[in-house]
Amino acid sequence: MSSTVVIGTQWGDEGKGKIVDYFAKDAEFVVRFQGGNNAGHTIVVDEEVYKLHIVPSGVIQGKKGVIGNGCVVDPLVLTDEISMLEDRGVSLNLFISDRAHVIMPYHKLLDGAEERVRGSGKIGTTKRGIGPCYSDKIARRGIRIGDLLSEKQLRNRLQRILPSKKELFTVFQIDESLNEDEIVKEYLAIGKKLKSYVTDTSLMLHQAFNDQKRVLFEGAQGTMLDVDFGTYPFTTSSHVIAGGVCSGAGVGPNKIGAIIGIVKAYTTRVGEGPLPTELSDDVGHHLQEKGHEFGTTTSRPRRCGWLDLMVVKHACMLSGVTHLAITKLDVLNGLDKVKICIGYKLRGKKLDGFPAAIEDVGEVEPVYKEFKGWNDFKRPSSLSDLPMQAQSYLSFIETFLGISLKVVSTGPKRDETFVIES
Ligand code: GDP
Ligand code: IMO
Ligand code: MG
Repeated sequence: MSSTVVIGTQWGDEGKGKIVDYFAKDAEFVVRFQGGNNAGHTIVVDEEVYKLHIVPSGVIQGKKGVIGNGCVVDPLVLTDEISMLEDRGVSLNLFISDRAHVIMPYHKLLDGAEERVRGSGKIGTTKRGIGPCYSDKIARRGIRIGDLLSEKQLRNRLQRILPSKKELFTVFQIDESLNEDEIVKEYLAIGKKLKSYVTDTSLMLHQAFNDQKRVLFEGAQGTMLDVDFGTYPFTTSSHVIAGGVCSGAGVGPNKIGAIIGIVKAYTTRVGEGPLPTELSDDVGHHLQEKGHEFGTTTSRPRRCGWLDLMVVKHACMLSGVTHLAITKLDVLNGLDKVKICIGYKLRGKKLDGFPAAIEDVGEVEPVYKEFKGWNDFKRPSSLSDLPMQAQSYLSFIETFLGISLKVVSTGPKRDETFVIES
């Protein structure tokens, strides 16, 4: 099988960008299939740090980057990202689906306004217009990338959409005008800039599979932010799990080969919503400081906690994860003890799966297994280079999940990674 899917198994920021960059060397296409510029994927090559929000991470390795139909694209952010990459000497080979939805200025304003109205019940979104854009897609009042290439199409869409948005602006007391002519002018100009990248990416990938090309799918966010299976309503608005590849890139399930689940060696979360293993003590502080846990997109501090295998087990089941990649193991160095959550109790009863109701997630009591900590290690190139305690930690995760460990990441740089050959 010629495709590999990389997905996040927690609440995002597991190090997907780094691992996708690592595997991109063996791929010809790297494809984003969901999400938008709410994502922030970091790639570190020698002294160069790239932070990508919508362009697939594989472009840094010079691979063909594809933004699939399941993504939502803010064309202003995309054109800025393209310029940034070109200025830094990355030769871009980019393809954007004509069916991907466009994040319009009113989506961003409405994202902010809805959060304001939610008050203390806010989701803590990235305010990038993601939720309102996906809502419009599902309500069949969206604008798609292909519409930016035709004045007639764009005007037709806007004439149906703008009246209701103007009413919403009044309800939310948004003091901004929505002028059809101005929007048409600005977005047609952007369409012109993007035109050479726009294509039927599903058809292109179909051809790539026929030609036996290797394709890598780059997940954004993490399973607990999946709109169906995450901690709803404190989730994003897309299908983050591996199944999202099929609808989000327009490829059949039989094209999916290996599915790599990225597991950060502990847990983080940005934004609101319950986090069962959250630590607000010195250990939480250690993880945040040593792991530089501040959002790549919004710079907000990430909440930190122990690794939660109830979460990762849920993610592996939903996506059919075939291999694990564990990242940020180095961040645990220097702790006296390390804990892993291996189960939940809810009102005294042991749970088999991850609860659906957010109220229950907020009430679960994690059951922990404790491990001895370990000291700093120098850049390891195999499991046997790790301290025994770190090896035990990894082998417990592998056994608990019953999925083989393929990659261990021990630093942000591309070469701070080793692969375990089976
Ligand atoms: P993504 O959204 O899943 O791509 O992850 P982010 O890029 O938002 O956040 C992961 C952060 O951890 C980035 O700053 C990476 O450079 C960094 N990182 C990735 N892997 C490792 C690792 O193994 N060790 C350390 N210390 N940092 C890592
Ligand atoms: P990557 O791809 C971490 C979170 C937001 C918020 C919730 C909804 O870098 O892992 P949204 O703007 O999507 O409506 O916000 O989802 N969130 C992320 N958290 N990493 C991400 O992406 C995220 N993308 C969205 O913080 O809690
Ligand atoms: Mg991120």
